[in-house]
Amino acid sequence: MMRTMNCGELNLRAMDRDVTLVGWVATRRDHGNIIFIDLRDRWGVTQVVFNADSNKEVHKRAEELRPEFVIQVRGRVSKRPEGTANPKIPTGEIEISASELNILNTCPTPPFEIGDAFVNEELRLKYRFLDLRRKEMVESLTFRYRVSKIVRDYLDQLEFLEIETPYLTKSTPEGARDYLVPCRLTPGTFYALPQSPQLFKQLLMVAGYERYYQFARCFRDEDLRSDRQPEHTQIDLEMSFIDEADIMKVVEGIVAEVFEKMLDVRFERPFLKLSYEEAMTRFGSDKPDMRFGMELKDLTEIFSQTGFKVFDEVTAGGGKIRGLCFTPPASVEFSRKNFDDLTHWIQDFGAKGLAWFKVTGPQQVESPIQKFFDAAKIAKMIETLGAKERDIIFIVASDVRTSAVALGALRVRLANDHNQIPQDVSKVLWVVDFPLLEWSEEDKRFVACHHPFTSPKPEDLQYLEAEPARVRARAYDLVLNGTELGGGSIRIHQRDVQERVFRALNIGPEEAERKFGFLLKALSYGAPPHGGLAIGLDRLITLLLKRESIREVIAFPKTQKGTCLMTEAPSEVDDKQLKELHLQIKK
Ligand code: AMO
Ligand code: AMP
Repeated sequence: MMRTMNCGELNLRAMDRDVTLVGWVATRRDHGNIIFIDLRDRWGVTQVVFNADSNKEVHKRAEELRPEFVIQVRGRVSKRPEGTANPKIPTGEIEISASELNILNTCPTPPFEIGDAFVNEELRLKYRFLDLRRKEMVESLTFRYRVSKIVRDYLDQLEFLEIETPYLTKSTPEGARDYLVPCRLTPGTFYALPQSPQLFKQLLMVAGYERYYQFARCFRDEDLRSDRQPEHTQIDLEMSFIDEADIMKVVEGIVAEVFEKMLDVRFERPFLKLSYEEAMTRFGSDKPDMRFGMELKDLTEIFSQTGFKVFDEVTAGGGKIRGLCFTPPASVEFSRKNFDDLTHWIQDFGAKGLAWFKVTGPQQVESPIQKFFDAAKIAKMIETLGAKERDIIFIVASDVRTSAVALGALRVRLANDHNQIPQDVSKVLWVVDFPLLEWSEEDKRFVACHHPFTSPKPEDLQYLEAEPARVRARAYDLVLNGTELGGGSIRIHQRDVQERVFRALNIGPEEAERKFGFLLKALSYGAPPHGGLAIGLDRLITLLLKRESIREVIAFPKTQKGTCLMTEAPSEVDDKQLKELHLQIKK
């Protein structure tokens, strides 16, 4: 046996016991005759003392120790001298008086100190095997495992079966690009890595499994952000003979169970539901952060036909004028430059400009454009927004969507910049009644808001051909603190409806057959009504642990550029490999 105890479990109750510990040298403090080592393993840190007076030979060997050496120590558990205990750690009252030392491996000077939380991320990712020794990383991966276990136990108790689906497969569209894998045995053909197990889980429903789940890896070639990875893990589930309420109940159960067991946080159930329409008009987002107010208001009527050209043009074109009211902290005074910066920033969201009014008195404002509006309109604006003295009113005039989205982004930015988001509450909700399709300027056709297998609302199906934008979907998103945590839908289970939706997406019969023939066939062989959802596990853990980035909860994540700094993937391959795959690289 290499060890009798671990480095996190000894305390005064083990006084005078002889123990053997193994681990890494976290720190070494040399006081001449006495050398202290903090010995670290997965479970914690224990102080080891090498005293020259009691064991000269072992003390001599301890002089060789350096950070991250791997050692085995035998010794006696003793009480730390008065005044030297460390109340911050469970082993803080004891130390090991070493009688034997075995150096199992050495280590060159590490590129960073393992306890240092402020190392730049590139270096951490390059030496991830060292970075993962940090307490925060051990905690985060342990936490992740616990959450997975809770979810598995919960679903197991509801008689869900975990079933694996293939990674080498055919394209499963979820709105991103596919990662392709060339097939050596049939030159010129490719597998696609799944963007999700969507079609396979539906086929499992056709096959009669009724309740499926999987911790599924999903691969998406898309532009990366702090909450996105090229491969991520979903808690993916699907059920048959159910409606929206059944799925929501199961998912709410999972979320409630995890929050209660891991954070002792309880949610009121059922969760709040907001329609997509309401989420967009009140918050300018389909994933509203409801931990704070600052809701958007429609000011179109107040500001129609005022003679201010920008607003008049927008209202004439059927657009909207929306505003929000921001209360700056007492210490903050907005300058011209602040407004200019925000005006510039908001253009990224499609807004052509940003109007602002400082409220200076009961019905008084200060603004570069106030001369365009009479006192009654100003008063009505102030009333509609419930603005008080010192508040700042921001207004965006644009098309229906842009005015909401841009102002919604501003809402979140202002709250973030000025610490107005309460950090000690969590707000969870469902967003429902999404449109089935949305117009893509880029592709010049309608694309699916969720994915092409989402069922239209039966009452809207009649508009599918004539007014596609009017059709709502039986889809639902789970939103937590402004992040989309999960998404799902009731699926199409009738072949003719699926064919109609493909047509609406401009996927002709031939293309539909080539890409999704197996699905259409399966739907005609007795597909039950079914639906499901997937929760983003990485995002869930990031939110639970309040980490800055999704990379903090993944053992071996990729950078924003999609590279692994440790293995240096992706990398070029040998000519021989290319040849076998019948591939040639065009330089
Ligand atoms: P969707 O595409 O909404 O649905 O994905 C489900 C959830 O997965 C998470 N997620 C991601 N997490 C990290 N990095 C990414 N690149 C990434 N992309 C998505 C999000 C998201 O809410 N097949 C459907 C589910 C269904 O209909 O049942 C699907 O994949 O938290
Ligand atoms: P301009 O006439 O473009 O100089 O704009 C006059 C003021 O109106 C400036 O303060 C702009 O920021 C603001 N503004 C311009 N376009 C918009 C818009 N689409 N929505 C809200 N305010 C705007």
